[in-house]
Amino acid sequence: QIVFGKGTIAKLDELISQDEKILVTYGGGSIFKNGVYEQVKTALGDRRVIEFGGIESNPTFETLMKAVEVGRREKVTFLLAVGGGSVLDGTKFIAAAIPYEGDDPWDLLSKNAKVIRAIPLASVMTLPATGSEMNSGAVISRKSTQEKLSFGDWKLAPQFSILDPETTYSLPKNQIRNGIVDSYIHVMEQYLTYPVVPPLQDRHAEAILKTLVEEADAILAEPADYDARATYMWSATQALNGNLSCGVVTDWATHGIGHEITAFYGLAHAETLAIVYPALIRYKKEQKREKILQYAQRIFGLCELPGHDLIEEAIRATEVFFHRIGMPTRFSDYGIDAQEAAQRIRDRLMDRNTKLGEHRDIFPEDVYKILMAA
Ligand code: NZQ
Ligand code: ZN
Repeated sequence: QIVFGKGTIAKLDELISQDEKILVTYGGGSIFKNGVYEQVKTALGDRRVIEFGGIESNPTFETLMKAVEVGRREKVTFLLAVGGGSVLDGTKFIAAAIPYEGDDPWDLLSKNAKVIRAIPLASVMTLPATGSEMNSGAVISRKSTQEKLSFGDWKLAPQFSILDPETTYSLPKNQIRNGIVDSYIHVMEQYLTYPVVPPLQDRHAEAILKTLVEEADAILAEPADYDARATYMWSATQALNGNLSCGVVTDWATHGIGHEITAFYGLAHAETLAIVYPALIRYKKEQKREKILQYAQRIFGLCELPGHDLIEEAIRATEVFFHRIGMPTRFSDYGIDAQEAAQRIRDRLMDRNTKLGEHRDIFPEDVYKILMAA
């Protein structure tokens, strides 16, 4: 359930039973600066509440296991994540790890151990980007091994998520830019493959892409514009809530590669996607030809003209859009040596025998070439 609009944090009082013992989780402190913490506290009233703060961006297993300890010791019955995707993803892990009966909850990520039970959870989402507020997935990092892995189970989907666009007013521009790009690429990963289904799924995807392209400037403008922020927040949720993937083949190679870049170099999630994506679609442009042509026409209004390479123009338009909102698209923008990154990531994916893409035909050697071009 999504509860959307101004002042909706107060609804926590209706949505959570008085009897719950709640673990409220949050990140590095943004909720204390923008008034969200106060609103949550007021809404929860006299309920029994324990807090766990300090969940970092790209939440780590090491930190989250401390919250698992607290949750077990205090026998909490409900988890409320307040913050961005990292806090919510971390909380999904905590929800699965508290009742986990195996030896090591990391197995949930590294060995696909089954989520048999989970503590119920909900969120107050303050950063539109990941779609975590309406999906069952989470991405967790492990400092000690420089890994970043995902897992998911519908038992981990939030029972409800409160989305108040006003909570986004305090976001720094780089986080908004990141959120727009992450949402955009979530759609692309589910859209830009090959034609398979009746037109409705494509039209849903295109609606989100076009909205983000058209509204990005208003979303980033100061002072914050409620309608633009509401559009942004709703687009991010729609981009990865399970709707677009119904009945279509999905790609997710960019995410798979991007997580490795974050694991090794610490870049923000969306920053990695913007580096990988243009290089990846250029590399796969023949296989993705039909959808790229459709994308060129429907999102950017480009059409075939003699002497023009429409595919290249569509990829270029995507890069120009990212640059317009301040998002770099090259390793060199971060001072990272592309060759070193390409080698490290290829070697790791070889160890895991990874195959990526909608055809499962992007092998570690292809990833190397894609990254060398980035
Ligand atoms: O930690 P605090 O102090 O709260 O500050 C955060 C953090 O520094 C800040 N922030 C959040 N809301 C704010 C705010 N600052 C001011 N005002 C607000 N309203 O923003 C910074 C980044 O937050 P974070 O939660 O890390 O960002 P995001 O929401 O982009 O989440 C990124 C994580 O989600 C994963 C990524 O891999 C990454 O680990 N993803 C999760 C997915 C999912 N569950 O489905 C899918 C995605 O593809 C993605 O992989
Ligand atoms: Zn993403």
